[in-house]
Amino acid sequence: MYKLKEIEEGIYYVGVNDRQKVLFENMWPLPYGVSYNAYLIVDEKTVLVDTVDVCYSDIFLKKIEDALNGRELDYLIVDHMEPDHAGSIRLLRQRYPNVQIVGNAKTFGMLEGFHGIKDGLHEVKEGDSLNIGSRSLTFYMAPMVHWPEVMVTYDEKHQLLFSADAFGTYGTLDGGVIDTEMNLDHFWDEMTRYYANIVGKYGTPVQNALRKLSGLTIRTICSTHGPVWKAQIGKVIGIYDRLSRYEGEPGVVVVYGSMYGNTEQMAEAIATSLADHGVKNIVMHNVSKSHASYILKDIFKYKGLIIGSPTYSNQLYPEVDALLSKIELREVKNRYFGYFGSFCWAGAAVKRLAAFAERMKWETVGTPVEQKQGRIADQYEACRALGEAMALRIKNEE
Ligand code: FEO
Repeated sequence: MYKLKEIEEGIYYVGVNDRQKVLFENMWPLPYGVSYNAYLIVDEKTVLVDTVDVCYSDIFLKKIEDALNGRELDYLIVDHMEPDHAGSIRLLRQRYPNVQIVGNAKTFGMLEGFHGIKDGLHEVKEGDSLNIGSRSLTFYMAPMVHWPEVMVTYDEKHQLLFSADAFGTYGTLDGGVIDTEMNLDHFWDEMTRYYANIVGKYGTPVQNALRKLSGLTIRTICSTHGPVWKAQIGKVIGIYDRLSRYEGEPGVVVVYGSMYGNTEQMAEAIATSLADHGVKNIVMHNVSKSHASYILKDIFKYKGLIIGSPTYSNQLYPEVDALLSKIELREVKNRYFGYFGSFCWAGAAVKRLAAFAERMKWETVGTPVEQKQGRIADQYEACRALGEAMALRIKNEE
């Protein structure tokens, strides 16, 4: 018999921890694992909010059985159809064939597509409520946070928001469930990385959702990933607000590709100059070693970005090119951008970085530096000047 955490009267945590998956979405590393959160409300009606990845369906169904204590399951609310949350719906339906599935029209299209389920549906629209006994649950649409069907569910009785992916983070729940029960230190960077990797493109929809939710009093946030937020709600909303406005902190990310160390030496000269001119938050990434997931996290975190690339077959260095495509996909806004590169016999990388800057509509800072072969001595002062220009631009912001 599981001892399930009761978050508020009659609301139980029935989620699971995944410490086995190496890459979330088969792309993003999970050094701290990830939790798939689901919640069971026991009232006059019994209501499950979301399910979990199908790999954990067995333990998940056992938890629900324990929480129900012999009762039937009346409703499943599907706030989000991505399979890390909706993966167990078909098995849940087999176990509880009479459960009514609550979702919106877009949810139901996906429900049929992923699970072949077409009946026993209860459709809701913006602002609709479902009375389940001592409380009503109200539904608000939050499209593109992070799929088009996403909605959130609000329990006015407890001023509690089931927020789907919003306010989520990587990281398992290692014993505690609520933020007051755990050391949160590693979650803050992981939240930024989660946001940058997963939600990053959808700044405007996140802002729309934040505006919509600003009219609600919220004392508890139950996201689908990471801790249940109570004491840290202000901080968590602040992080999502800042990230979705693409607001960077003072600091500079220096990212470079380098085959034989020549472009790397340019990056070193730039970084030293940044430090000499008072920038303390400097993060350097060798694009061939740092996973893009961490580079994106730092790009979302800081206002300044300097990218360097060798020329490779008359193109950008492929790993740099791949990173640029990830940045473009996320439509990162308002960065101060510097760039540099090297070549052996014909330069192309710097030209392509210039074109990238134009596409991103970023402010270019300093004069781009291009180095031939290993002639760092010829370009050392130019690299330092680029670092100094970025440092002055960042400090003007502070
Ligand atoms: Fe955690 Fe968009 O699913």
